[in-house]
Amino acid sequence: MRALWTVVGALSLPAVLPAQEAAPAAAAAEPQLRVPRGLTGPVPGAPGFRPAVAALGRTLFADPILSVDHKTSCASCHRPDHGFASPEPRPAGSLGRRSLRHAPTLFNRAWGKAFSWDGKAQTLERQVLLPISDPNEMALPLRDAVERVRRSPGYGPRFQALFGRAPAADDLATALASYLRTVVHGDTVVDQFRAAQGSHLTTAERAGLWIFESKGRCWRCHGGANFTDEAFHNTGVGVEAGVPRPGRMAITRRDADLGRFKTPTLRGLALTPPYMHDGSIPTLRGVVDFYRRGGNPNRNLDPVLQPVSLTDAEADNLVAFLRALSRPAVAGGARK
Ligand code: HEC
Ligand code: HEC
Repeated sequence: MRALWTVVGALSLPAVLPAQEAAPAAAAAEPQLRVPRGLTGPVPGAPGFRPAVAALGRTLFADPILSVDHKTSCASCHRPDHGFASPEPRPAGSLGRRSLRHAPTLFNRAWGKAFSWDGKAQTLERQVLLPISDPNEMALPLRDAVERVRRSPGYGPRFQALFGRAPAADDLATALASYLRTVVHGDTVVDQFRAAQGSHLTTAERAGLWIFESKGRCWRCHGGANFTDEAFHNTGVGVEAGVPRPGRMAITRRDADLGRFKTPTLRGLALTPPYMHDGSIPTLRGVVDFYRRGGNPNRNLDPVLQPVSLTDAEADNLVAFLRALSRPAVAGGARK
């Protein structure tokens, strides 16, 4: 299957480029902002976006220079060939440690309102710096990361040319966040169907869409263009002996936030198992079965979650629909 995020909009022309970036080899591949069918434009948070800065961010994203042992890059956990998520429930960081949670997809984060499963970062720029100094992830003090980049013959002059000063933490953040704003996923058969621009959903997928939007109650939290309300809910994932993990409460200190985690987007889902903040559910059928029983009981379970009565055939249809959210729109489908 052709990965959607690699498709560069044919019509988006690069903005004005610094001379050295305009060399044919570099110019061809600079990441561009684009809004795939199904998402709402313009891309949020992107005034002043520069493709050359995004290109720098893309290089950094794949470079282990930001980890203490020069072994872990952002892409080691957010694997581009795995929908920018980790195939492991808790991915390996530097120094033999592991992240505390599943590395979520980075698709469409430009549309995010809070970042990390507990919303600990309020902007993409703040979020992208957190893994660098996190002892379980890249374990490199931020000051040292900036110093390494400053001393690097490849990066030092490139930062200087783009930001007009020696590399600073803010510039690292700008570069990484600019790149992530170009990592988008949309224009699926579901978007085509919803826009009445062709009907390429199978009967099972259409039946699944109906369940999603009716008795499944999935839309109550996974609604909108990006299939998330960007809010925090307690579904009971991770509950042990009736006791939820703190989740959002660790950030807000509000009891009402006990066990709440951020609703993830459902776009690109077929690429990104395992699922949930702890990667505890390996398959989409497992996720659907989790919702069939109404999540895991605990004292703060979201009241929207009730057991959903589905036959096995209906559960299969719902899974088929969820998978369709990763299937590219069919070219040449009827357009209005
Ligand atoms: C060792 C694995 C690991 C590495 C390396 C890593 N991440 Fe992450 N990333 C995670 C995990 C785990 C989370 C979820 C964090 C949480 O909920 O506490 C996350 C969350 C994120 C998010 C928030 C996504 C969302 O929807 O809330 C962004 C953005 C992100 N990482 C970008 C990056 C960037 C940029 C880098 C490199 C500088 C990076 N990550 C390196 C594991 C990793
Ligand atoms: C009350 C709000 C709510 C409802 C209703 C809801 N979800 Fe979720 N969903 C969430 C939250 C919150 C998470 C993350 C939970 C966690 O990891 O702690 C989640 C996680 C998921 C995931 C995992 C995605 C990933 O990347 O890990 C899938 C798939 C999913 N939901 C599908 C559904 C389907 C299908 C339905 C309907 C049957 C549904 N959800 C109903 C809030 C909701």
